[in-house]
Order: sequence, then C-alpha cells, then structure tokens
Amino acid sequence: MNMPTQMNVPIARTSLTEAEIQSVLGPLRSGWLVQGPKVREFEEKWSAFTGAKHSIAVTSCTTALHLSLAALGLQPGDEVIVPAFTWIATANVVQHLGATVVFCDIDLATFNIDVNELKQKITPKTKAIIPVHLFGLAADMTAINQIAKQHGLWVVEDAACGFGSRYHGQHVGTLGDTGCFSFHPRKAITTGEGGMITTQDDALAEKLRRLRDHGAAMSDLQRHMGSRPYLLADHPDAGYNQRMTDLQAALGAAQMKRAADIIAERQRLAKIYDEAFTGLPWLKSPAHIDGLEHGYQSYPCLFQPEPITAKSVTRINQARNAWMDALQQVGISTRPATHAVHMLTFYREKYGLKPEDFPKAYAANDCSISLPLFHGMTEAEQAFVIEQVCARK
Ligand SMILES: Cc1ncc(COP(=O)(O)O)c(C=O)c1O
Repeated sequence: MNMPTQMNVPIARTSLTEAEIQSVLGPLRSGWLVQGPKVREFEEKWSAFTGAKHSIAVTSCTTALHLSLAALGLQPGDEVIVPAFTWIATANVVQHLGATVVFCDIDLATFNIDVNELKQKITPKTKAIIPVHLFGLAADMTAINQIAKQHGLWVVEDAACGFGSRYHGQHVGTLGDTGCFSFHPRKAITTGEGGMITTQDDALAEKLRRLRDHGAAMSDLQRHMGSRPYLLADHPDAGYNQRMTDLQAALGAAQMKRAADIIAERQRLAKIYDEAFTGLPWLKSPAHIDGLEHGYQSYPCLFQPEPITAKSVTRINQARNAWMDALQQVGISTRPATHAVHMLTFYREKYGLKPEDFPKAYAANDCSISLPLFHGMTEAEQAFVIEQVCARK
C-alpha cells in the first residue's frame, strides 16, 4: 500500500451517531429543558455503568470538584493535596474555596500522583487529597485510601478522564468520597460541557443534590410530581446553580447505550499503537499496570531520546517541540499530555514555586506528547500516524 505524505489527523474528533443527535430534540419538543427526566435518566445510566450508588449531574467536572469539596465542608485555610501534573481546574477549585493547594509530584511511569511523596505532604491542616486518574489510568487508590484513612482525610477523585477506567474491577469514581467526571468534547462521552459526581454516601448525595440547585431541599422534578402546588422548597444551604440541562443529559444518556463499544474501540486503537511502538526506545507508551484497565481518554507518551534528567529536560523539550512541528506539517495534531500546574503563572507566583520543585511534573510538562486517538479513527489515519512516528530520525 502506498502511504500518503499528507493527511489531516486531529488530536480528537467528536463521535455522535444520528440517533444521539436526534435525542436532543426530545427535551426541546417536551419543553422540559433543565434538571428534568432526561437528567434523571442519564444519572441512572451512569450509576448502572459505573456501579456508583448515586450519580449527580452537574455543569462540568470543575463544578463537580468544587461542589464535592464544598459539600464535604472544606474551609478557608485548610490544605488539599493535588498532583502537580494535572489540568489547572483540579487546583483552582481548592483556591476558589479559600483553601491552600499543596502540590505533590507524580510518578513519571504513570503520570499519576506519587504516593510516597504524598505521605510527606500531610500536615495538621490537610483535609483532603484529590487523586487524578490522568488520561484514563487509575491512581494507586489502595495506598491513597489507606493514607487518607490513617489521617482522617477526604478523597475526592478527579475522574475527568476516567470513563472506562477500572481499578481492580471497580470503576474509578467509586473508590473515594466522591468521583468527578467530565463530558467536555475531549472526553469519551460528551455533552458539550457537563460533569457527573458519583458517591456511595446517601447523606453526601443528598447534600450535593441540594447544593447544585441553590441549596433547595426539594428539586423541581419532585415539586412537579408532587400534589401540593403551593409548596415552595426550603433552602437549608446557600447553594449554587450547577444544574445540567436536559438537552445535555439526553445526549449523554443516548451515548451511554454504546458505552462499552466506545471504551473497547479506544482500547483497540491504543493496543495497535502499543504494538507499533514497542521497538522505539525514544518513545514510552502509556503504562500497563496489573489490575488496572486503562480507558484511554488520550494516548500520552513520554518522548525520551536520552534519559530525562534535570540537565537534559530543556534539550529534550526543544527536540520534542521540533518533532511536534514536523508532525503538524504533515497534518498530524499532537499535544503535550497536559500541563504542570505549579509552572503556570498564577500558582508559580502565588506559592513562589520553581519548575524543579516538582521535577517529574516538570519533565512530564516538557517531554510528554499525546498522539491522536478518538472513536471513529480510521485504519488509514492510524497507519499514517504510526508510519510518521516510526520514521522520526
Ligand atoms: C484532570 C482534569 N480535571 C478537571 C478537568 C476539568 O473538566 P471540565 O472541563 O469538565 O470542567 C479536566 C478537563 O480536561 C481534566 O483533564
């Protein structure tokens, strides 16, 4: 087969069937647009799929994380431990509640929080840990939960990328106090914007439902179904408006019908990459850990043409960027896997941090590369990416 020399392969492409697109018309025609029957259906489907006792739909993963910490009772001055390599939202929600972000370095082999360093970050002010299941690979939840139990800390799982990620058989998001998922278009299931909180705790679920809806003790759906039209809800809390629309929920619920297929397809594509790149010493594919099922929200690799050290990081970063440019020129979109939050202006200045303070996060920031992986990627698209990657001089 003659390979093309130029294609257009995006980093991700949204996959929606005609039936899923049509599903949005249901709420539009019914007139029930917010926090109605479709939201309830999406929540039920999410619980059935993940095994969570409760699922609470919200407007994004960021609001899911924020609401979780608010519901658990995080106070100004409290400390929350957050991996230094994650999306900025994981840290921002701590900041928004007036608490202090305590960064922890990662394990470069998995891109997830380093549990040995985590222990050293605990102080009398620590209240919570936010482990992130980055790119779809579960963090070391046994160790994290053990540390949390020992010190009486809450565990809020950032499962933004965690759809389809399992930890020894259990879906992520069901292992901590709450789990927080994202439905942003870069994720495997998307509602445009949107998020879901999962929890096994009845009282916490009730509080989360209240807080997302202005603190109301009774939802619109409950009032609508009830028999006393004069009843107004009481508001035991000063809550927020983080309600999902039924248009979004209809789209989410429709995609849940092919949830298993979506995950299987991503895992199939990842396996093809894994096999194609086995012989490349300069490109480290995502880790395989016994007992962990990767959901492959993305396919994050480590670019390592030489061992990554404090001295070589800058040189490797320049080579990686040049390679990313070269791939872009033949039409292949790539991205750094994510950013090191301690290196971003707000956190660097507020906490007086240097890149070297978290050397693994710094290395991941400068030496990682995510390759295109999305549902519906064609054989020709993936073959072209593989050929171009393997052809790197
Ligand atoms: C690890 C992580 N946490 C949180 C978020 C925030 O998700 P959302 O955009 O749904 O607010 C993202 C988004 O990409 C993420 O990757």
